[in-house]
Amino acid sequence: VTEFIDLRSDTVTQPTEAMREAIAHAVVGDDGWGEDPTVSELEAAYARIVGKEAALFVPSGVMANQIAIRVLSSPGDQVLTGEHGHVVGFELGASARNSAIQFGLLPDEFGVLRSSDVAAAIDAQRDHHLHVALLCVENTHMFAGGVPMTSAQFDDIADAAGDVAIHLDGARLFNAAVATGETPAALAARASTVMSALSKGLCAPVGSLLAGSSGFIDSARVERKRLGGAMRQAGFLAAAGLVALESMIERLRIDHDRARRLADVVALRFPESNFDPARCRTNIVAFDHSRARELIAQLSERGVHGAVLSPSRARFVTHANLNDHDIDTACQVLREFSWN
Ligand SMILES: Cc1ncc(COP(=O)(O)O)c(C=O)c1O
Repeated sequence: VTEFIDLRSDTVTQPTEAMREAIAHAVVGDDGWGEDPTVSELEAAYARIVGKEAALFVPSGVMANQIAIRVLSSPGDQVLTGEHGHVVGFELGASARNSAIQFGLLPDEFGVLRSSDVAAAIDAQRDHHLHVALLCVENTHMFAGGVPMTSAQFDDIADAAGDVAIHLDGARLFNAAVATGETPAALAARASTVMSALSKGLCAPVGSLLAGSSGFIDSARVERKRLGGAMRQAGFLAAAGLVALESMIERLRIDHDRARRLADVVALRFPESNFDPARCRTNIVAFDHSRARELIAQLSERGVHGAVLSPSRARFVTHANLNDHDIDTACQVLREFSWN
């Protein structure tokens, strides 16, 4: 029997026993009326962790990004972001549909924007270019391979952005915190708004959190309702989210060590990718390969399931539902890989 080693994404994680227990006993109410104490507790906990005034529990990371863009821009505005950003390539054109903005794309090959590019794009407004309403940054940067951004790097970018608002897609902000040794609040300090996913490496079944000023969150609550994301007895989900924030962050370093093992084998077996395994700092191994689709398909036939990010880019993601044996096996399959 071929094993199913699931390296497609950290979204495949199952809730832990502690989460199932918390879900079963959650105290809930109608969050549409602001009466779910568990949701309120989760929102307050996240706001505290990322150092913002208030937070909002939303069904998904995409919705968190979409709400932030809607609140912080107007139709026809320009939103600057990395050309491989999640908001650009992986949200099915949602920002065009929901907010009617135009993205201004900046180079992000290595995951962190250059402050000179940000400054130049903002300066171009003086020469009849589109008004820049917002800058979106991603930490960790998924497409670049889970690249963490330090607070010093963010400082440079934020200084260049001046008074332009910044939204931080921190779907994997906790991975960045573990990798850099900085607190989530330090990593989000220069962001006007920040979101993080509970349903990826932290193993909660559903949900993301969006934080910012109290005024921003008041507006975000309205947009969440407009998008159909207001939930009722959502405390059942928030209960798992609280367990995620309390007990699932430190163990992310195990995922990072395992990703690095996979990265070393990828670099050895596929030198044509010019992949530097030292760039793998968190739980994502992303590398270029001219036959990415075939490669992922042929590895799947051998029980190792990755994902295709583009026709020439492949990805493996480590997470809590893998064990050392899975990683050993995946490394062996990769090392011994030959084309069909
Ligand atoms: C960087 C980044 N942002 C946002 C999202 C969206 O999260 P969700 O799948 O919860 O909508 C993802 C997840 O795929 C992501 O990787």
